[in-house]
Amino acid sequence: MAKTGTDIALAAHHLCGGKLVGIPTETVYGLAANALDELAVAGIFEAKKRPAFDPLIVHLADFAQVEKYCENVPDLAFRLAETFCPGPLTFILSKKPIIPDLVSSGHPTVGIRIPNHPLTLALLRQLDFPLAAPSANPFGYVSPTTAQHVTDQLGDAVAYVLDGGPCAVGLESTIIDLSSSVPKVLRLGGLSLEALETALGQKLEVQRSSSNPKAPGMLLKHYAPGVRMLWETDAPPILPAKTACLRFSSPHPKLPSAQQWILSTNGSLSQAASRLFAALREIDAAKFELILVERFPDVGLGLAINDRLSRAVQSGNG
Ligand code: TXA
Ligand code: MG
Repeated sequence: MAKTGTDIALAAHHLCGGKLVGIPTETVYGLAANALDELAVAGIFEAKKRPAFDPLIVHLADFAQVEKYCENVPDLAFRLAETFCPGPLTFILSKKPIIPDLVSSGHPTVGIRIPNHPLTLALLRQLDFPLAAPSANPFGYVSPTTAQHVTDQLGDAVAYVLDGGPCAVGLESTIIDLSSSVPKVLRLGGLSLEALETALGQKLEVQRSSSNPKAPGMLLKHYAPGVRMLWETDAPPILPAKTACLRFSSPHPKLPSAQQWILSTNGSLSQAASRLFAALREIDAAKFELILVERFPDVGLGLAINDRLSRAVQSGNG
């Protein structure tokens, strides 16, 4: 079983030795390896059972290091980084050859992110290489938001899990593609679309299609927790006794309270986001027959929450 703790030097030691380490970020926990060591990176794909066509995000301590790994970085990227880094935003940029093709799955671009977590930033500052890290879950399952989630699912594959407590944001980073002339959002996430659009002073194109070759990880099944899930609006007229519901702020009128997961009784979308994945895991573990999910308001982080839920609903259904 993996060791869990707050020993940054031990985490660094394992990473320098080519091992995998679970790292906390403000979004979700990552499964990290030396991004410049192809063998170590191969271990990530193996541990997650992740298809090699799904590229990894590279984490840096500071956006100022970006030009070591990327070329033709547009001014826009530096402007956004000033406002949002460290934070839940990933930049897709043209990569330099120093980034192994395995990391980028053969794409000419790479995802770059500066995670906003004190332990992981301290770890990154100790290392002389960046960290490739996808979310630390087996491929196709919900992302981990505690160190325990990581050891529950990937325990044997990781040398150590750096425990930084529960993730504050709880949704994966928002991904913006700045590798061509028109900026595009490839994944809605922990930074709201409105915040990005305000900073840019323009509306952004959002590509959410499952067949989008630029974000091959965005498969519709990606967030499946393994149970049949329906939107509340598609619920059958008679509910099975073992029905759970996932709601924003108010209870479902027809279900007992023990079968309800209400993410934020005071109606905060950021609180709801931070609790979403843990709630999905709890519901999954409780072995309900049916999960009903309420649609969240289509604003701010509600957009990203609905995006994750719609993937789970579609896969649970089909
Ligand atoms: O919040 C996060 O982003 C977390 C933490 C650990 O940083 N990481 C994360 O990684 O969610 P992952 O691998 O689970 O999701 C990364 C997504 C994938 O859908 C992948 O396809 C996309 O980023 N991606 C990575 N590199 C890309 C590239 N060069 N072009 C297009 N999409 C890319
Ligand atoms: Mg993931």
